[in-house]
Amino acid sequence: MGSVSLKIGDGTARFKPPSCCSSVLNFIMLLSILITNLFALYAFTYPQTTHQTHLHAPHKNISLISEHVSLILQEIVSSQKKLAQMEKELIGYQNIDLSRPNIPNELKTFLQHHPLPLGKDSKSGITEMAASVGHLCSSSADLLSQYMNYKVGGACPDDWSVSQKLISKGCEPLPRRRCFARLVPKTGLFPFPLSLWKPVSDKIVGWNGFSCKSFDCLKGKKLGGDCNGCFDLANGLEKQRWVKARGKNDFLIDEVLSMGNRNIRIGFDLGGSSGSFAARMAEKNVTIITSALNVDAPFNEFIAARGLFPMVLSPDQRFPFYDGTFDLVHTGNGLGDGARQDKLEFLMFDIDRILRAGGLFWLDNYHCVDDERRKTVMQLMERFGYKKLRSVVGEKVDLGTGKPKIYFSALLRKPARG
Ligand SMILES: *[C@@H]1O[C@H](CO)[C@@H](O)[C@H](O)[C@H]1NC(C)=O
Ligand SMILES: *[C@@H]1O[C@H](CO)[C@@H](O)[C@H](O)[C@H]1NC(C)=O
Repeated sequence: MGSVSLKIGDGTARFKPPSCCSSVLNFIMLLSILITNLFALYAFTYPQTTHQTHLHAPHKNISLISEHVSLILQEIVSSQKKLAQMEKELIGYQNIDLSRPNIPNELKTFLQHHPLPLGKDSKSGITEMAASVGHLCSSSADLLSQYMNYKVGGACPDDWSVSQKLISKGCEPLPRRRCFARLVPKTGLFPFPLSLWKPVSDKIVGWNGFSCKSFDCLKGKKLGGDCNGCFDLANGLEKQRWVKARGKNDFLIDEVLSMGNRNIRIGFDLGGSSGSFAARMAEKNVTIITSALNVDAPFNEFIAARGLFPMVLSPDQRFPFYDGTFDLVHTGNGLGDGARQDKLEFLMFDIDRILRAGGLFWLDNYHCVDDERRKTVMQLMERFGYKKLRSVVGEKVDLGTGKPKIYFSALLRKPARG
């Protein structure tokens, strides 16, 4: 299937440009240094004046004072240590232990803060750059080390499965950046729009790490999720989807577009398997970005070969789109099946964020584990104030197990909020 199971991390640990906290910290630090210096100055100068006026008993008082001074100094040293620790925590990466054995140098280099070549940036105020990396990467330190063990400037190791494992553990974005990806010649690509439904050559994919070694093999495979023979562009059901209804749960693209007041131009398909939704939309001059992870199949290569726009993106991270960008968000099982309610909420809020007011959210044949799940999704959308344009609950017999399953389709319009 084109997406991993729903798992929400809370984003990434990023380098923070000096924030109000760190400037407050700096201020406290300065202040404490200033005060102690004044103290010391007072302490050292005061006995000297007494020394001049009362020549008899300077020594005891001087030793008393130096005792005090050394106590104060101790205090300063310990607070400075505390401050340094706090500052480290503010900057981040506190949770990736770089003192572990066998940490590849490239990981350290990647995480290091690099001073800006031209000094402080006048706009942002930052003086150094640090790359961002998912904070959950730290909980897969061994895998992360394995992943970051490569030759800088050389060929990247052929190990997509490691990336996939890291992403599924919430390590996103991935920190590998300085090697050359495997060169797979993309020959036999068709011009657009012919490319949308032409068979894709096996040669454009490096099949390492997949159990299938050809698209023919994938056609017959049960890949789960929204991919039910989704690599078969010629004979399977894939060609009929969204243009010919097989049941009341299937909405047609023409109907949906007409409900969007003919104002649907760009959209996002979350977990869009082989990209056929984007292909059908492209025929209507609507541009769709399809999120896909290469779980068990080279979805990304396939989508790109069709002349469509794939994006490696798990539903766990905040979507890298600006607020109110899309006219349409479409998903089938991109919401995940067994995920906890709060995880679902994170995802739905983010879908809401990237959808413009008046835009459409199309939940397409979502397989609900139970009716409770369907109610949860519906209640959430009602809480958001979405207008229900269509909503259908249906049962379909699962081809694999022969048991009926609940499917839910809904078309909702995002309200304008004040
Ligand atoms: C030390 O200084 C205090 C005043 O600050 C004074 O009262 C005291 O007599 C001095 N002690 C000695 C031993 O000189
Ligand atoms: C898509 O755009 C092309 C070029 O502007 C146009 O010829 C075609 O009719 C459009 N198709 C649809 C379905 O609007």
